[in-house]
This record gives sequence, structure tokens and C-alpha cells, in this order.
Amino acid sequence: MNPKPQLTHTREELAAALSALEGSVALVMTMGALHRGHLELVRQAHELADHVVVTIFVNPTQFAPGEDYDAYPRTLDADMEALSTVGADVVWAPSNDDAYPVPATTRIDAGPVAHILEGATRPTHFAGVALVVTKALNLIRPEVALFGQKDAQQLAVIRTFVRDLDIPVRIQGVEIVRDSDGVALSSRNQYLSDAEREHARALSRAIDEARAAAALGVPVSEVLRAAQQVLDAEEGVEPDYVAIVDDDDFTLLAGSGSAADQVNPELRGASFERWAAQGTMRARILLAARVGATRLIDNADVMVSVSGDAR
Ligand code: PAF
Repeated sequence: MNPKPQLTHTREELAAALSALEGSVALVMTMGALHRGHLELVRQAHELADHVVVTIFVNPTQFAPGEDYDAYPRTLDADMEALSTVGADVVWAPSNDDAYPVPATTRIDAGPVAHILEGATRPTHFAGVALVVTKALNLIRPEVALFGQKDAQQLAVIRTFVRDLDIPVRIQGVEIVRDSDGVALSSRNQYLSDAEREHARALSRAIDEARAAAALGVPVSEVLRAAQQVLDAEEGVEPDYVAIVDDDDFTLLAGSGSAADQVNPELRGASFERWAAQGTMRARILLAARVGATRLIDNADVMVSVSGDAR
């Protein structure tokens, strides 16, 4: 493990740096503006392989026109400093032309998991993520790639296309890192003013309320309502959706706001059937909301009751 990572930009530099590594490689993909959540990914990556490769690239194909592609923080020097505190072997920070020598015309569609929630609000987003992740997996060929649970749907999409396309890599999810006020770490948090930061705390409070409701064994719709009420009551927070999904396959069980009409009753029924014998289901609650001009997402696992009326 080298504390000071070797910085590469072109594909040739990357290939040369990789060929000097003996043993297994773990990959951590980022868009930079690194925070403690990213560094935790790198820390865990060291435990899973001999070498760690980090990518830093604000991927244009996952942003739609009008989203924050131009405003997205680009802090390569600070990112390299931050990485040297946890160690990494190689960093690949390509330019757009290094990553996309020709404009890509291929589209990877992971199916239903990519079309609900974030995929409905940002219809071209997951195809762009799938494209850049596949490129990096093919160019770097890691044994394992780690992604944060903060972007739970992204993780589910990646698991789906990696499985369906038989890409030879293990995908490892890593728990969300939160600040002491409960707010999940995100590069976009730096857009928030002090007042907005206060409002942003409502997202993790909403999750806590939902988990408390779930512990009482109430129906999934009431678990969802418990979270929704917290967001609705918080001035300065404009909810996009609250959703509860089966944590195994991301089937949507309940949704409000923009997710209200995204539930597929057949898939939902099949999900409940699969878990009926256990009486509870390992599910995940997901929230998206605007706080000022910033769109934030958060999620957590939750055990929900699936027997009888609790559906
Ligand atoms: O999660 C992110 O930061 C990005 O979506 C990823 C996985 C680095 C792809 O650009």
C-alpha cells in the first residue's frame, strides 16, 4: 500500500500504473470532492484486496441538461491530499476525452430497478452511471468494487447489470457515514447554507420515525406516512418522494410524492409472498427532497411486517 497515490490521467498512464501492481485490486469510484464517506470506502477497500485504485471523474453522461454538472465541486488537489491520509495505489482522474475518446452510443438499461424513484426523476441518470462504471471495470479489471449505500438505488442498479452481463467483479456495498447531526455525508452538502443544513436534518429524523413505526408492526403504508409527516412538517424541505422497497431486489412496496404511482402491484404482491413465511421483510426506506436549490437523498434499512393487515 502506497500512502501517496500515483496520479494518472490518460488511459496509457493508467495501464502503465496498473501493470506495476502485483496481486488483487479493489476499485473505489468517485466524482471527487472527497469526504469521510469516500475515505471509508477506501479504508474498507484495503481490507479486501492488495491494492486500491480510486477514480475521480465528474461523469457528464449521468447529468441531464440543467442539473449541477458545471457547479459540481472539482477539488483534485484536496482529494489527493485526503487520499494520502488513507493510502491508495493509483488514482485515475481522466479528462472527458480520456474517459470518452468517442461519444458513447451504447446504452445500458438495467430494467425496472433503474426506472423508478431516482430513475423516474432523472431518466438518463442510471444509463450514464452504468456506462462509466462498466468502462472503469473493463479498463481496471478489479476483483472487487466498493460503492456507498448512500446511493442505494445506484448500488442496486450496478449489482443488476454486473450480474446480467456477467462482469467478473464482486460488488461490495458500504454503510452510510453520517455527521454528528445525522445528515448523511454527501459532496452536495457543501451547497447548503447554515439554515438549509438545519432543515436537511429532517431527512434522517424522518428515517428514525419510520423505523420506530416499523418496530410497532404497522402496515408498510403507515411506516411510509411516519417519514412523510416529518418531511411535510419541516419548513424549507420540499419532498420529492418517500419510498419503501424490498431490500433484496428493490421492488417498490409503497411510495408517496413522485413515487406514488410507480408501485407495480404484481411485483409488490410477489415480494410480500416471498417473505410471508418469515412474517417480516428486510426492506429499505428511501427519501429524496429539495432543500433550497439542493436535491438530497437518504435511506436506511428497516424491518417491516408482512403478515396479514400489515401489507
Ligand atoms: O456515486 C458516484 O459518485 C458516481 O455515480 C459514480 C459511481 C462515481 C459514477 O460516476
